[in-house]
Amino acid sequence: MSKNNVVIKNGVRFEIAKYLNKVAPKCTKVVIITDNNVFLHYEADVVASLERAGITVKTFVMQAGEKNKNIDTYTAMINFVADAKMSREDVIIALGGGVVGDLAGFVAATYMRGIKVIQMPTTLLACIDSSIGGKTGFDLPQGKNLIGAFHQPSAVLIDLETLKTLPKEEFQNGLGEGIKYAFLIGNGMLELLKEGLDDGNLLDFVTRCVDYKLDIVNRDEKESGLRKLLNLGHTLGHAIEKESNYTIPHGLAVTKGTLCVANASVKCGKLQKQVYLDAIDVCKKYDLDYTISYDIKTLLKNIQMDKKMHSDGDISFVDIEGVGNCVVRTTSIKVLEEYLTK
Ligand SMILES: NC(=O)c1ccc[n+]([C@@H]2O[C@H](COP(=O)([O-])OP(=O)(O)OC[C@H]3O[C@@H](n4cnc5c(N)ncnc54)[C@H](O)[C@@H]3O)[C@@H](O)[C@H]2O)c1
Repeated sequence: MSKNNVVIKNGVRFEIAKYLNKVAPKCTKVVIITDNNVFLHYEADVVASLERAGITVKTFVMQAGEKNKNIDTYTAMINFVADAKMSREDVIIALGGGVVGDLAGFVAATYMRGIKVIQMPTTLLACIDSSIGGKTGFDLPQGKNLIGAFHQPSAVLIDLETLKTLPKEEFQNGLGEGIKYAFLIGNGMLELLKEGLDDGNLLDFVTRCVDYKLDIVNRDEKESGLRKLLNLGHTLGHAIEKESNYTIPHGLAVTKGTLCVANASVKCGKLQKQVYLDAIDVCKKYDLDYTISYDIKTLLKNIQMDKKMHSDGDISFVDIEGVGNCVVRTTSIKVLEEYLTK
């Protein structure tokens, strides 16, 4: 996906028609997929922009929450899109956080074997992570994101103004992925987080995360190698989410997973202790509980269902060699357990 198709701009929600026309000039109908919270804040702005340009708009509103990222919601969505008689020229707009983005992206990937989707992320997590890269899908009772497809968005339109209405805990959740990026990218990202994100540096922070992810995804779209780096903190993170029965949100679980790996890396003498302490300072600053209250062994047992498991029983996880220097390792669960519990 070209960098030109990602726009990060305050108020971009009022100019959707302009960008829609660029990526889908023959589009006459749009289905907006959103959730009940985002709907109240931003749906009318997007609709107004599209209707001014003569586009017919219909909106599907899902109930917010990870528990609804399931097959029933998917079925309701795709029926809605079919009832709206969307053609292959028409476009789905995903207006919301990662839950909306993943589901709407999968509807776009599967309706008529694939129509265009524009991602309009409205959470910090979705802005810096889930809206970029084309991973779409939903959860099964057996595990997260077990149904899915790669389907690149035609455009990602990021309106940072929308983050103003984000509840504090959702901003914190996004920072969880933000800390992951700080370890992956290096280059002062942790320091930036330590200073504190504000109106002055949020654009810089989001842009750097987006650029990093785009670069990785463009080199390894289907996650055959390099893209696995983006899973830093996720091996354990997914297990923590599941063990908590999804009461611990994704981003926070990723923070816990990332800090656990960072701690192991410090103990092995690979990562400077000060960096780990800086990351803890960031967690404290934003009130992020980075501790893990579950037994690591139990968590790793649950990873058996995780997609990162290889057929020979080995597992991929991302290790931290230093800030801006992370590597993908493949190891047995036993060795990983020893590493993380040293
Ligand atoms: N596709 C990917 O590459 C990828 C990457 C990371 C995470 N994810 C997925 O993302 C999901 C988590 O996404 P999320 O953290 O954005 O959660 P979310 O989509 O559930 O949104 C969190 C909450 O914030 C509300 N909200 C969203 N934007 C708002 C706004 N601007 N103002 C007020 N309220 C707002 C939502 O209604 C919801 O209640 C998980 O399902 C995870 O698996 C996907």
